[in-house]
Amino acid sequence: MKKPNVIVAKNAGFCFGVERAFEKALNLGQKCCILGDLIHNRNAVATLSSKGIKTVHTVDEIDREYCVIRSHGESPAVKQKITQKGVKIEDATCPFVSKIHDIVKQKTEEGYKIVLTGEKEHAEVKGIVGNAKDNVYVVSDVKDVPEFDKEDKICLVSQTTFSSQTFEKIANSFSKKQLKIVEIFNTICYTTLVRQKECERLSKKCNLMIVVGDVKSNNTCELYNICKQNCKQVIFCQEIKDVQNLDVYGFENIGIVAGASTPKELVKEVKLTMEEKVQSIQPETVADTKAVATDNDISMEDVMSSLEKKRDFKRGQIIDCIIVSIGDDGLHLSLPSAKTEVLLPKEEVNLDGSYDKDAFKVGDSIKVKVLSNDGKLSISKKAIEDALKADEAVKELIDGKEFTMSFQFKNKGGLRGKIGTYNVFVPGSQIKLGFVNEKDFDKYLNKPLKLKVIKVDGKDLVASAKVILEADKKAKEDAFWAKVVPGEVVKGKVMRFTAFGAFVSVDGFDCLAHISDLSWENVKTCEEVLTLGESYEFKVLKAQRETNKVSLGYKQLQKRPIDIIAEKYPVDSIITGKVTRLKSFGAFVEIEPNVEGLVHVSQVSHTYVDNIAHAISEGEEVDVKVIGIDKEKNRINLSIKALLPEPEKPAKEEKPAKERKPRRSDEERSKRDEELTSWVTGDGGASIADLLGRN
Ligand code: F3S
Repeated sequence: MKKPNVIVAKNAGFCFGVERAFEKALNLGQKCCILGDLIHNRNAVATLSSKGIKTVHTVDEIDREYCVIRSHGESPAVKQKITQKGVKIEDATCPFVSKIHDIVKQKTEEGYKIVLTGEKEHAEVKGIVGNAKDNVYVVSDVKDVPEFDKEDKICLVSQTTFSSQTFEKIANSFSKKQLKIVEIFNTICYTTLVRQKECERLSKKCNLMIVVGDVKSNNTCELYNICKQNCKQVIFCQEIKDVQNLDVYGFENIGIVAGASTPKELVKEVKLTMEEKVQSIQPETVADTKAVATDNDISMEDVMSSLEKKRDFKRGQIIDCIIVSIGDDGLHLSLPSAKTEVLLPKEEVNLDGSYDKDAFKVGDSIKVKVLSNDGKLSISKKAIEDALKADEAVKELIDGKEFTMSFQFKNKGGLRGKIGTYNVFVPGSQIKLGFVNEKDFDKYLNKPLKLKVIKVDGKDLVASAKVILEADKKAKEDAFWAKVVPGEVVKGKVMRFTAFGAFVSVDGFDCLAHISDLSWENVKTCEEVLTLGESYEFKVLKAQRETNKVSLGYKQLQKRPIDIIAEKYPVDSIITGKVTRLKSFGAFVEIEPNVEGLVHVSQVSHTYVDNIAHAISEGEEVDVKVIGIDKEKNRINLSIKALLPEPEKPAKEEKPAKERKPRRSDEERSKRDEELTSWVTGDGGASIADLLGRN
């Protein structure tokens, strides 16, 4: 026969709620007393008493500065009584219990009837009941559930250490009652659940179960009940002496479980005692002397089972967890169905990266998303918020809002990605203005694309960059054509030269500045006026959207030669110039290099000049006065006579009748007009326009 294995449940001994209460009491020491047994364990109470910490059972008995409220909690009325007595409260109510108080208070205010599963006389239940008004029903079995009116609003909660099986049965019974509103809060503490499940599993494979704890402890009694259902021999061990005389011979597996209020030391003592007993079994009575199971053996089994559960979680899965503790590194959570805890790193808590420990309470449930589970389970809360936020944002996108997105994936037809829970696909025909071939999709991966949703099919969105680019193009064109109004001045960059002019880019559009519109001079190439790549201002001469043609002029924004001359030599200016040409109607005088004005024959002398060549010679320097500027006709009229003193008029005497000069013949008049006209147009010599500017 084999020696029996001793298997200790991993979750045996104080839960964190009890440990917390213990710590608070020990910190205060003799300054405090505890209202009611801190835990239902006589050994633990004895330990506290040895430290001078008194346990009282009524408020009247309190005679210390502080009163510690144990993990079971108290009703508001009891707390008020303590405060009225002038005693400070050190509240060690377990956060899981506080949560039930909050639910009950809120639902009572909202007009709900409270159904509380639990033991009527249990301190925790009394505390919870104290938070409700009259409409509270404590039930410990399905048959205790009263009949409610169909219109009643029911809120179902449970004592933290109540049997999960019974709670489920009671909760299920409500589905048959056809009540209008039933809100169910499974408030059974996760440590209780874990212990109960573990206890069930262990008791099924052991033929002797030892339940360590106090008979007054509800959760320990619950473990005892579970063991009884699965194992023939169950022993309640309140003190070590309860197992000292136990005969372990003949058992294959001996299981040890303990309630949340059982000190770990007692569990350890029981375990050692059992191991000693196993060891003491005589070898001759044992065929196989396999070593007894240790804590580690059990832990490994539990851990493996837990790991298996952990492994079940899939990437992207949303899971409900319970906050077990709140650390500087993040929230420590218990996973559903897995006994081990997992850390929700503080960076993964909120979208904005903040982490406020006070925003969380131990015992609160929290939803997290599995980011990865390849060997190590990685979870995030902010990923859920991210997805929800993204889903919220998608609504706006479906309504036509533009968005920017980078894609990491492609398929045969285009680029694909995800926003929140939506799939986004951009076909090759919608990536840019032209078509993008499959072989070129890589060029668009991991680059931001400005997109607009063009089709929605459930959670599948088809988006397009092309529609935005087309709209942008149209808007630019509209703005351009609104700008290139004849007469307006625009800025453009010289892009290229041709024999007939320069192509100028205005806001990206090609416009033509004809060579004849570049300068008032007769330039032969565009380079004489403009530099390639430089930007200049141009005057819009013509714009036709239908033909897509815009003509620009450069010279139109430059001063005309006649304007410069007019500024430099206003009327009445006196200039010295050289006579360049003599004509029958006058003399041309160069007043600037290549700029000539005309001294009409009548402006040469105060006396009549019949032949100008008799009065002035070509090449002669003369002083002239500007007597007129005709900008329209490009003419400068000069006078020599205006600078000469007027001759004295002779005394009046009878003069013989003046011989009249014979009139010019028609032929002579027409020749003279022709010469005068040719000066104006420049055909008979350089006009001002032709000549100015070459100096
Ligand atoms: Fe312990 Fe609190 Fe649960 S006291 S059993 S952790 S409700």
